[in-house]
Amino acid sequence: MIFYFTATGNSLYVAKQIEAKPVSIPQVIHQENREFSADSIGIVAPVYGHEMPNMVKDFIRNSVFNTDYFYIILTYGNRHGGAAELAKQFCDECGIKVNYINVVLMVDNWLPSFDMNEQMQIDKKIPEKMAVILSDLNARKNMISEVTDADRDAHRQFLERMGNALPDAWQHLIEVTDDCTGCGICEQVCPSASIRIVDGNAVFHPGKCETCFACIHACPAKAIALTVSEKNPQARFRNENISLQEIIDSNHQTNRRYDNEQ
Ligand SMILES: Cc1cc2nc3c(=O)[nH]c(=O)nc-3n(C[C@H](O)[C@H](O)[C@H](O)COP(=O)(O)O)c2cc1C
Repeated sequence: MIFYFTATGNSLYVAKQIEAKPVSIPQVIHQENREFSADSIGIVAPVYGHEMPNMVKDFIRNSVFNTDYFYIILTYGNRHGGAAELAKQFCDECGIKVNYINVVLMVDNWLPSFDMNEQMQIDKKIPEKMAVILSDLNARKNMISEVTDADRDAHRQFLERMGNALPDAWQHLIEVTDDCTGCGICEQVCPSASIRIVDGNAVFHPGKCETCFACIHACPAKAIALTVSEKNPQARFRNENISLQEIIDSNHQTNRRYDNEQ
């Protein structure tokens, strides 16, 4: 049994290499009974600010996993900042015994710092890393991926920078421009129902946004932008092995309403 969270397909691609039918966290998180039993249970998720996305943490914190082998695979694009150690600490706090945590370097979809066209040209040795992970999981290896002092330092500096920002700064990173055609793809790929078509145009509702950028990357008109500067506003990304339909199936919140709706 394997659960995943994805915005642009990297983590889904990894999850599918491990198991044919991984389960999307945005789809199961609203389920009332969240007790899962299996020989092994895994989580695959991107690294956001060196940690797991809030929805993934919420899912782990509020679920019961009955298994002999619990593992986490984290995809990241540039610097994991000790993500494996931070995920281990988080599991410890939740009282979950975690057997294995590893990280996979992939395209970095963080638009303020990276040009997607450049990122896609870099050979990040994904097949090699996946071969190691698949062999480790097969052998039920116990291991937490190595973290250096430089990683820990990067995380400390990141927390300092975040400490100087407004608490809800990350909720105001996304804006819809006049180029919106009202196609609704942004609404379908959003894992937190934070963007919706109203009167033919996309409207962003801050508050529960995971800042995953699924809406920005999937918009065919490139009509969703960041409120901070972007490396290349014309370059967008989706993992080449994952279809738009798979992102929609992963994230679409068909029955959810905004908090301010009746
Ligand atoms: C909000 C946000 C924060 C991120 N933070 C980091 C980070 O701290 N370190 C890093 O190396 N990559 C970071 N990334 C890049 C993603 O972890 C990486 O591209 C990941 O593989 C995307 O997975 P997905 O395609 O499954 O969504 C960040 C991306 C986003 C959108």
